Amino acid sequence: MGFRTAYLVILIAVLAVLAVFASTDFAVPISFSSLRDLSFGAELFTFLSRGPWALFEQHVARHHHRHRKHLDDGQRKVSICDDFPPDIPPPETNTALTFCVDRNGCCNFTTVQAAVDAAGNFSQKRTVIWINSGIYYEKVIIPKAKPNIMFQGQGYLSTAIVWNDTANSSHGTFYSGSVQVFSNNFIARNISFMNVAPIPSPGDQGAQAVAFRIAGDQASFWGCGFFGAQDTLHDDSGRHYFRDCYIQGSIDFIFGDARSLYENCQLISMATPVPPGQKLINGAVTAHGRVSKDENTGFAFLKASIGGTGRILLGRAWRPFSRVVFAYTTMTDIIAPEGWNDFNDPASDQTVYFGEYNCSGAGANMNLRAPYVQRLNDTQASPFLNISFIDGDQWL
Ligand SMILES: *[C@@H]1O[C@H](CO)[C@@H](O)[C@H](O)[C@H]1NC(C)=O
Ligand SMILES: *[C@@H]1O[C@H](CO)[C@@H](O)[C@H](O)[C@H]1NC(C)=O
Ligand SMILES: *[C@@H]1O[C@H](CO)[C@@H](O)[C@H](O)[C@H]1NC(C)=O
Ligand SMILES: *[C@@H]1O[C@H](CO)[C@@H](O)[C@H](O)[C@H]1NC(C)=O
Ligand SMILES: *[C@@H]1O[C@H](CO)[C@@H](O)[C@H](O)[C@H]1NC(C)=O
Ligand SMILES: *[C@@H]1O[C@H](CO)[C@@H](O)[C@H](O)[C@H]1NC(C)=O
Ligand SMILES: *[C@@H]1O[C@H](CO)[C@@H](O)[C@H](O)[C@H]1NC(C)=O
Ligand SMILES: *[C@@H]1O[C@H](CO)[C@@H](O)[C@H](O)[C@H]1NC(C)=O
Repeated sequence: MGFRTAYLVILIAVLAVLAVFASTDFAVPISFSSLRDLSFGAELFTFLSRGPWALFEQHVARHHHRHRKHLDDGQRKVSICDDFPPDIPPPETNTALTFCVDRNGCCNFTTVQAAVDAAGNFSQKRTVIWINSGIYYEKVIIPKAKPNIMFQGQGYLSTAIVWNDTANSSHGTFYSGSVQVFSNNFIARNISFMNVAPIPSPGDQGAQAVAFRIAGDQASFWGCGFFGAQDTLHDDSGRHYFRDCYIQGSIDFIFGDARSLYENCQLISMATPVPPGQKLINGAVTAHGRVSKDENTGFAFLKASIGGTGRILLGRAWRPFSRVVFAYTTMTDIIAPEGWNDFNDPASDQTVYFGEYNCSGAGANMNLRAPYVQRLNDTQASPFLNISFIDGDQWL
């Protein structure tokens, strides 16, 4: 590839990025030529073309260009690690230990799982796993014995952990997660979790594919991406905080029985577009699994924005006491007017807690909402509007 071609690649990448920003719902199909070499081939491709992945493309193009340029400059010896930050990993302190992961072998580990394995069992200290830009093709599991781990990526469009298990390929939906965390006090910052299994067609059995499962208590996620289709984010159990996250999916794309506060997150549906006038529903943002009134679980969304494609619900009652609240959230017209669904169990109409408070946008019109949906007043909404909902004042 010559100098001119390299520029062309960058130009195309920049145009692709502009195209993404110009579209409000990230649904513009983009071509990802240099990602074609990567191992997941066509499936990854179809998948990426439905998300804002042009930034990955730009990263790859820039990288390629830089190496070319060094060679053109007179064949001086260059290492792929030349640009590696000199202060990573920082020395161990009394409170934290940093492990570094780089695909190209420029520091401690080349896989995230190897770094997790090296973290201490039942460590009181925080283990920061610093993960360089790149796509890490691996399934990662953090067992209960490894608390206090933090994943620090370089941005949710630069660092991603990607796998492609489905319910069928992994003994059930719950085990299909590309990354699964069972330990307490987990933190993730500026990183994405993806499942790139083929997008389920209507009627498919066993094609659900979780990108991330969190089953530990007191976890927080800052600037993270969660990319999948059906069942993207398994917000399983424990108390969790999600801030400034990007969550993409189709059916029940945030599900589980955790108690979680989502603040300032983008919830993007990638369900198939439904022609105007058709009443078909082909997705749902949430499927919360609260089983009884004695359980203090629920999903609260504060200042979220909901967009993308399809004609979807805000929530379905996966279990009879399902509890979900949307507050100060903007919703496009992809939200069907009824808004919610009782999972075909009319008995749960009396027991679900589905509330909306001060939302806006074409999808937030409550005139035709299902009868059991609550228009929350200030008093009713207040428990869901800050970190006290997840006892965050004690641990966050
Ligand atoms: C995951 O991707 C690999 C490599 O493309 C493929 O061999 C495998 O069948 C895929 N698994 C599933 C469940 O789609
Ligand atoms: C990681 O690399 C640093 C710098 O080379 C080194 O000091 C540290 O011991 C390594 N840590 C592990 C767990 O290998
Ligand atoms: C953690 O415990 C497991 C199982 O007992 C052991 O195999 C592993 O070496 C331990 N890891 C560390 C880092 O101590
Ligand atoms: C995460 O990324 C954002 C946007 O690039 C940046 O402003 C922020 O400092 C990063 N935070 C951390 C903890 O890495
Ligand atoms: C999952 O497995 C079931 C039973 O073996 C099979 O009928 C179904 O077609 C599989 N689904 C997919 C998406 O491969
Ligand atoms: C909605 O929020 C605005 C701004 O915080 C507030 O002034 C207003 O009273 C709220 N409306 C309702 C119906 O709660
Ligand atoms: C809010 O609604 C509850 C339940 O219907 C009611 O008891 C309460 O008086 C209302 N509060 C306000 C401030 O309207
Ligand atoms: C959260 O809201 C509750 C109910 O309005 C209030 O009692 C509490 O002081 C607030 N907590 C924080 C941390 O702002």
